Amino acid sequence: MDEVEDLPIHREEPPPHIHVAECQIKPLLKDTDYDAINKCFATPNLCQKEIEPNVVYKDGEQIKFLLLPRAISEAAWLKAHVAAHDAHMQSNSRREANAQAYGRKLTLGWIDLRLPNYENMRTAPTLEQPDLLAALYPLIRDMDRLIERAVPAYYNYAFKCAMTAVRPNTEHDDLSRITNKRELQIVEALDPWSLTYTIRGTVFSTVEFNRNIVFKAHEDGHNVDGTCVGITTLGSYAGGRLVFPRYGYSAELGPRDFLLCDNNHELHGNLGPIVGDRFSVVAFLHDSVCGRTEVDGWGPPYEGGDGLPTPEG
Ligand SMILES: [Fe+2]
Repeated sequence: MDEVEDLPIHREEPPPHIHVAECQIKPLLKDTDYDAINKCFATPNLCQKEIEPNVVYKDGEQIKFLLLPRAISEAAWLKAHVAAHDAHMQSNSRREANAQAYGRKLTLGWIDLRLPNYENMRTAPTLEQPDLLAALYPLIRDMDRLIERAVPAYYNYAFKCAMTAVRPNTEHDDLSRITNKRELQIVEALDPWSLTYTIRGTVFSTVEFNRNIVFKAHEDGHNVDGTCVGITTLGSYAGGRLVFPRYGYSAELGPRDFLLCDNNHELHGNLGPIVGDRFSVVAFLHDSVCGRTEVDGWGPPYEGGDGLPTPEG
C-alpha cells in the first residue's frame, strides 16, 4: 500500500445518516438509593423499561444510551465471533471477574495503568494475541462509523477528544517480544501513522473483551468526560442483560446489535445467570491516553459545544 492510499488526504464520503428519535429521561433513583446498589449484582426490579431501538436517550445533553439493532455488518461480526472462541482468556485480578468461576476478561489497545514492570502503552494481550486484535479491527471500525452516522454531533465531540490522545515522539513501545513479522504488522497497525493512541483512527483507544462475566453494578470512571462506550456481543448465549439502574432501563444484546451508552459516571451491570458463551466487546476512550503531549497541528483546541463537557487534559 503506498503512502497516498495509507494516509488519504480526503476523508471518504460518510455513509448515509441513520435516523434516530430522541427521548429525554430523568433518574428514577434518589442518590442514596443509587449509591446503595453500587458494587451489588443487578436485579430485575432495577430495569423494568426496555431500551427501544433507534432512540437516543439523553439526560440533558448527555447521551445515556442508543441501541442500533443488527447494525454491525455480518462480515465484521462473524470474523470477531469466530476469533472470540479462539482467544486465550486469562483469569484477572478484578474481583467482578474472579468472583465468577468462568468469567474472563482482557484489555486490548492502549492504556496506561501505571503498572510496575510494564511500561508499554499497548497492553500485554495486544502484544500476545495479534490475531484476536486483527479480527476485532473491522468490528471497531463498524462501531465508529455507526456512531458517526447516527449521532454526528456527539461523534464530532468524541473525535475531538480522541485527537487529544497524541503520541509523544519520544514514547515507543518495546515490541521486541514479537518475532513474527505478520503479527508485528498487526500490532503496529493499531496506529500505523505514529500519531494517536486510537484504535486505527477511531474514537476509541481501548477495548475490554469479556467472556461470561456478570458484572456487578459499577461506574467505569476513567473514560474521557462526556464520551460513551460502544458495546456489542459475540457468542451463543442466553442471559447477561445490560442494566442501567438510575433510569430503570435495560437491553438484551443479540448478534450484531450495537449499544452506545454512558458507562463513565453511570452505574451499569448485568443480569445473571449467563448460559452458553457470551463475549462482550466494550470500546472506549480511556483518559490515561489523553494529554500526554501538547496537541499541535490539530486545529484550535476544543472549547466545548453541543452542551457537552469540555475534555480535560
Ligand atoms: Fe463497565
